[in-house]
Amino acid sequence: MKATIATLPGDGIGPEVTAEAVRVLETVAGKFGHEFKFTERLMGGCSIDKYGAALTDETLADCKASDAVLLGAVGGPKWDDPNAKVRPEQGLLGLRKALGVFANLRPVRPHPALLESSPIKPERLKGVDVIVVRELTGGLYFGQPKSCERVNGHTRAVDTMEYHDYEIQRVIDLAFRLAMGRRKKVTSVDKANVLETSRLWRTIASAAAADHADVTLEHMLVDTASMRLVTSPASFDVLVTENMFGDILTDEASVLAGSMGLLPSASIGDSGPGLYEPIHGSAPDIAGKGIANPIGTILSAAMLLRHSLQLEREAAAIESAVDAVISDGCRTADLGGTMSTAQMADEIVRRL
Ligand code: IPM
Ligand code: MG
Repeated sequence: MKATIATLPGDGIGPEVTAEAVRVLETVAGKFGHEFKFTERLMGGCSIDKYGAALTDETLADCKASDAVLLGAVGGPKWDDPNAKVRPEQGLLGLRKALGVFANLRPVRPHPALLESSPIKPERLKGVDVIVVRELTGGLYFGQPKSCERVNGHTRAVDTMEYHDYEIQRVIDLAFRLAMGRRKKVTSVDKANVLETSRLWRTIASAAAADHADVTLEHMLVDTASMRLVTSPASFDVLVTENMFGDILTDEASVLAGSMGLLPSASIGDSGPGLYEPIHGSAPDIAGKGIANPIGTILSAAMLLRHSLQLEREAAAIESAVDAVISDGCRTADLGGTMSTAQMADEIVRRL
């Protein structure tokens, strides 16, 4: 097949890991007889430096016109001034909203050879296979009003938590669909004892469960869920939650895998290109050294093949190659090893 993939390497280690994921995709294209056309654009801090905006109209248009978007990471200390008018993160949030990718899938399945890399006791990690479905285009990160102003001699900052029923419905439906192809359990995480948005969330999740008799629905408060993720992580199958809770819980869940550098994500909507990115950030402390773990981005490329191009065999081929390099002891610095970003990718490419 022919496909166009927009790449947004971004800032920090973003360009290093994206380059390796592109190399893996090119190898897959060669092996399986596909033609992938890559168009690279600036997004994030690098785009602010060049154009004064984190996401330009041209970059957005290119992303919308492609079959999928592969992103590295955005942000860094250079753009971190809290008073700055433009921030790299605005580009990422704006892109997610503009692409309508309302569901962010973050699978966490610790590799048996890496159980010792996690601070969690190995016996608790056995059998862990969870996919977090994070609502991505609503809630506190997007609700209006959003402001910071002087009121009666004090400075008042406001963020708004807002959800429409349809925004909850579509992400809950997706979680149930995913659960059907897995262990048929959905844990819906909210704060229904305090928040109105969570009570609406819970009502909609319960109604969806009535339509999916063979899937078990469990409601869990977010504070409890944050504890259970480390005390009994194997009890989760599909965990679905609103935007900010999902942001926080997925960083926590990444600890189960042994390193954040391993974890991919897919952001998808009803139609149009999906957005694929590792869950780690731009890691300014190791940027430019060529030592970042490229696996999170390479596995994101596998999710791109699966979810945006329907190339399941090709996606599975990348995932098997990644499993194999870990079994064979290949380790970058985040996993206590000495391999470079490029060496790790070489080993993956060799096993495809
Ligand atoms: C993530 C990141 C982003 C988010 C930031 C960089 C805006 O933390 O993808 O989890 O909060 O969504
Ligand atoms: Mg985050």
